[in-house]
Amino acid sequence: MKTIIEPFRIKSVEPIRMTSAAERLELLNEAHFNLFNLHSEHVLIDLLTDSGTSAMSQEQWAAIMRGDESYAGSKSFFELEERVKDIFGYKHLIPTHQGRAAERILFSVVARPGMVIPNNNHFDTTRANIEYQKCEAVDLVIDEGTKPELLHPFKGNVDVKKLRKLIEERGRSKIPMVMITVTNNTGGGQPVSMANIRDVSAVCHEYGLPLFLDACRFAENAYFIKLREPGYEDKTPLEIAREMFSYADGVTMSAKKDALVNMGGFIAMNNDEWAAKCRNLLILTEGFPTYGGLAGRDLAAMAQGLSEILDEDYLRYRLASTEYLGRHLDELGVPCVKPSGGHAIFIDARAFLDHIEPLQLPGQALACALYEQGGIRSVEIGTVMFGKVNPETGEQLAAPMDLVRLAIPRRVYTQSHMDYVIEVFADLAKSRDSIRPMAFVDQPPFLRHFTAKFKRL
Ligand code: F0G
Repeated sequence: MKTIIEPFRIKSVEPIRMTSAAERLELLNEAHFNLFNLHSEHVLIDLLTDSGTSAMSQEQWAAIMRGDESYAGSKSFFELEERVKDIFGYKHLIPTHQGRAAERILFSVVARPGMVIPNNNHFDTTRANIEYQKCEAVDLVIDEGTKPELLHPFKGNVDVKKLRKLIEERGRSKIPMVMITVTNNTGGGQPVSMANIRDVSAVCHEYGLPLFLDACRFAENAYFIKLREPGYEDKTPLEIAREMFSYADGVTMSAKKDALVNMGGFIAMNNDEWAAKCRNLLILTEGFPTYGGLAGRDLAAMAQGLSEILDEDYLRYRLASTEYLGRHLDELGVPCVKPSGGHAIFIDARAFLDHIEPLQLPGQALACALYEQGGIRSVEIGTVMFGKVNPETGEQLAAPMDLVRLAIPRRVYTQSHMDYVIEVFADLAKSRDSIRPMAFVDQPPFLRHFTAKFKRL
């Protein structure tokens, strides 16, 4: 197999700055060992997130210039609406400033206290917005999806038996909608098969329940279906995406992922009554329905991004480059969630640093070591993010897994950047026993990972 080259050439560059290990140790100390406190100019390769970090194309920058900034009836809105109808097929488009705004508006309209919304795995903001409505967010991913080492082509699938059981136990009137996140970010960026979307849709429609997709990474999911699901090898990503959406009644979308923009999102759906209610809430906090908290130029860039994301050369390169990183880390003996996800590689820090107990924060220790060693920023997804403190005893409780996510921004880094990341891991693999455990110095009561302070033990 030949090298999978980046299917673009570089027209505008953004310098990144080298720092020395000694400088980085000082910066880590100043940041209280919390990588969210670093200034981005001190990061050489930033793998904190794939969200809002894409490089825009020349056509997107051109669209920015053509953006229509009219308060009402912007031409850019109608261009976006046409593009969204073409791919997603739904009647109503409601733009929002990002994914979580779409979630807040939708759940404010459909959810009432005491209700339950199932998903394969809810992303944190989705869960938080459901809980904010005093509802329960339930994860129903298949058992295979929770085992990091296990190989399965569609680890993001929903367990249909568990879904049926939940509907029977709680009653359909307690469930305003069922969701599926494509790809399943929380579960490792793992795809959902077409067969699974179809089966979940059939159960939903049997009980008269609407199905919504959290569609942030829909194009990556569509390409995984093409690569892995029999019967789809000759279909285009657009045909596959259209079929995925045909089984659902609507979507929430963070356009900061697979619409290749730095800011934006939307809700799209068929239900007239829900759409009218969502638009009323939108006007209250986001803006008039033809801009929804965005500038006209943002809508124009999003419409263009949606025209580019389903390009086969791009998607082939995208999934191959993530897999390239995962494969090389695996060869170095760095334990990763398998198979590689679409947008990120998740490292099992608890297994990699087996001399560090979960309550001594192996994920945070690895993320800090990765920055100190090579200037690479990642994010801990483990005991720091999801561990709990018993409010009565003050006892710390570990999360089920301690992962470190290397999320890959779209069209930003080249293969040589990834080779450098692999080389830094080769060094870390040799010196892993000397990576020190960590402890909290200070932590806030909610979403503690953003602002907590740490020390090395
Ligand atoms: N749903 C999923 C599956 C996501 O991954 C995200 C964001 C959202 C919803 C919320 O969208 O950020 O536009 O409000 N994920 C980012 C990440 C933040 O780093 O994984 P948003």
